[in-house]
Amino acid sequence: MSDMILFGAFPYVAVALMVGVGLYRYCVDRYSWSSQSSQFLESRVLFWGSVPWHYAILMILLAHFLAFLFPTGWGVILGRPIRLYLLEVTGLGLGLSTLIALALLIFRRVLNARVSAVTTIVDWLVLVALFLQVATGVYIAFTLRWGSVWYLHTATPWLWSLVKFDPQVQYLAVMPTVVKLHAFNAFLIIALFPFSRLVHVVSVPLAYLSRPYQVVIWYRSRVGR
Ligand code: HEM
Repeated sequence: MSDMILFGAFPYVAVALMVGVGLYRYCVDRYSWSSQSSQFLESRVLFWGSVPWHYAILMILLAHFLAFLFPTGWGVILGRPIRLYLLEVTGLGLGLSTLIALALLIFRRVLNARVSAVTTIVDWLVLVALFLQVATGVYIAFTLRWGSVWYLHTATPWLWSLVKFDPQVQYLAVMPTVVKLHAFNAFLIIALFPFSRLVHVVSVPLAYLSRPYQVVIWYRSRVGR
């Protein structure tokens, strides 16, 4: 029963919150739809935390999505031991990078008084949830070997069953607790999404690629400045 609530019902609540509250916030408070950058308050540690964090987490999420969308092709890729080892080692490297980078970003918010002052309760919740997510992910990769393979036979069918509105929670019910925690926490992050700075994920300024470039010209006379 509790598995049905956690893995059969909660994912829909999380996605409904993300879409419903997200759209509402976009319509009524569009100015807040941003990462609320703190770069002006501190930029050095931010650079060393934020850049590796974003590159590594995007690659890891891409791997999660590809294994979900194209399980057959993913299985073929992993069919040769050399490719399986390469993928797992790359995943571990990226996972450890996310863990270190996120730890750096959390320490920055704790130790820098100015950054700490602009950090809200929701920011802390998101940081803790993200840290739990990458820590459990790396733990799974280290201890439950060949996760990239068994993901195809557990996570992928579970996620597709959710998409088809026919939740098959038995795929997760038999998994170790840490995997259940990793899966549940993923949807907790989705639920927190519309209440937090995470909304910046869907505000990539793609229009910048096609819009005419800006020419910035000094308006004042340089004489006497
Ligand atoms: C917010 C969404 C998610 C994030 C940010 C995330 C993050 C991560 C990270 C950082 C790793 C470690 C990668 C490595 O070191 O190889 C990982 C591994 C893993 N994740 Fe997730 N994850 C998410 C959602 C999910 C979901 C929904 C599942 C489904 C149960 C899942 C299943 C796994 C598995 C099985 C591994 C181990 C892969 C391996 O051993 O190669 N993840 N995840």
